[in-house]
Amino acid sequence: MGVFASTDDPVSTGHEQVVFCQDKQSGLKAIIGIYSTALGPALGGTRFYPYASEDDALADVLDLSRGMAYKNALAGLDLGGGKAVIWGDPEQIKSEALLRAYGRFVESLGGRYYTACDVGTYVADMDVVARETRYVTGRSVEHGGAGDSSILTAWGVFQGMRAAAEHVWGTPSLQGRRVGVAGLGKVGKYLTGHLLDDGAEVVATDVSPKALAWVRANHPQVTLVDDASALVAADIDVYAPCALGGALNDDTVPALRAKVVAGAANNQLAHPGIEKLLADRGILYTPDYVVNAGGVIQVADEIEGFNFDRAKLRATRIYDTTREILRLADAEGVPPAVAADRLAERRMADVGRLRAIHLR
Ligand SMILES: NC(=O)c1ccc[n+]([C@@H]2O[C@H](COP(=O)([O-])OP(=O)(O)OC[C@H]3O[C@@H](n4cnc5c(N)ncnc54)[C@H](O)[C@@H]3O)[C@@H](O)[C@H]2O)c1
Repeated sequence: MGVFASTDDPVSTGHEQVVFCQDKQSGLKAIIGIYSTALGPALGGTRFYPYASEDDALADVLDLSRGMAYKNALAGLDLGGGKAVIWGDPEQIKSEALLRAYGRFVESLGGRYYTACDVGTYVADMDVVARETRYVTGRSVEHGGAGDSSILTAWGVFQGMRAAAEHVWGTPSLQGRRVGVAGLGKVGKYLTGHLLDDGAEVVATDVSPKALAWVRANHPQVTLVDDASALVAADIDVYAPCALGGALNDDTVPALRAKVVAGAANNQLAHPGIEKLLADRGILYTPDYVVNAGGVIQVADEIEGFNFDRAKLRATRIYDTTREILRLADAEGVPPAVAADRLAERRMADVGRLRAIHLR
């Protein structure tokens, strides 16, 4: 989905509802953005971040909530798109009272918005939020939650990568392919395991000595390179950005030797137009929000009462969705990122429309 200019406001961006929440005593300042409930209640995490200004917080929640509508639509979920931001430094102001005040505002929306973890909020925080609202997922296992979502995120990325490999090389197997993994965190570690199991050669990098030590100890066959620039320039077939956003930019795309990009990081395209730069260089980019949907599939499953096998089956379907997007991209002569947006918009329109059929 396209990137908003920070000057955009909820009216021009087409959001259904944007709610400003304040509890002075606890210091809570939150904005909940609901982009669309066409497919069901809006689902998206709560980002707790020290934004420089309220405008920055608003721009972020508008952008992120819209992104969730597209992600949830293509993940095949009966959920719309929303997101929330809490404006402030979590290290300084996060408290039981603040999280519970936030939970009460979520509850006040009557189920139009389900929250979950995001940057700056954790499973334990959702347990606290859940003391005030039913509309929260991503809780701890002890509280009926599904726990760590990176397991299914990595599984989904692997499925998207398999679909891309099939598109480019005629077989979904990664056997004998050199895959560059940038970021050996929660997702990157699991992804590395799947790749090695499939017979791929893994080249990787991370800025954290702890992450590097873990890989040396657990997967000594992985080749480690100095940094992400070295990985981009390395002789790899597939590039998997699994660290921060903006991995695909004006510097990295011209240097990239891989034929396929499939990774977990959110917002991999640094700015609009990068998807075309990739296509012009003959690099197949699997849209980040499609292949990294395993996490949201997991938290969505928790709403039904978590069942790992069912959630894994749903995450496995990322393979089929990615194939469909790549087929559509070829048929319509557009980059996969554009095809994915079109497919998501089509589902929101086609399925969302059914609510107009009166039932009683
Ligand atoms: N965890 C999930 O379920 C999930 C779901 C969807 C998307 N994502 C996205 O996937 C990415 C990875 O998530 P995660 O949960 O594994 O996070 P994480 O914080 O556990 O891991 C990120 C890793 O990247 C490393 N890193 C940071 N900067 C780097 C750099 N410049 N070069 C190389 N390595 C660098 C960090 O040291 C860390 O080991 C994030 O962008 C996240 O938003 C995660």
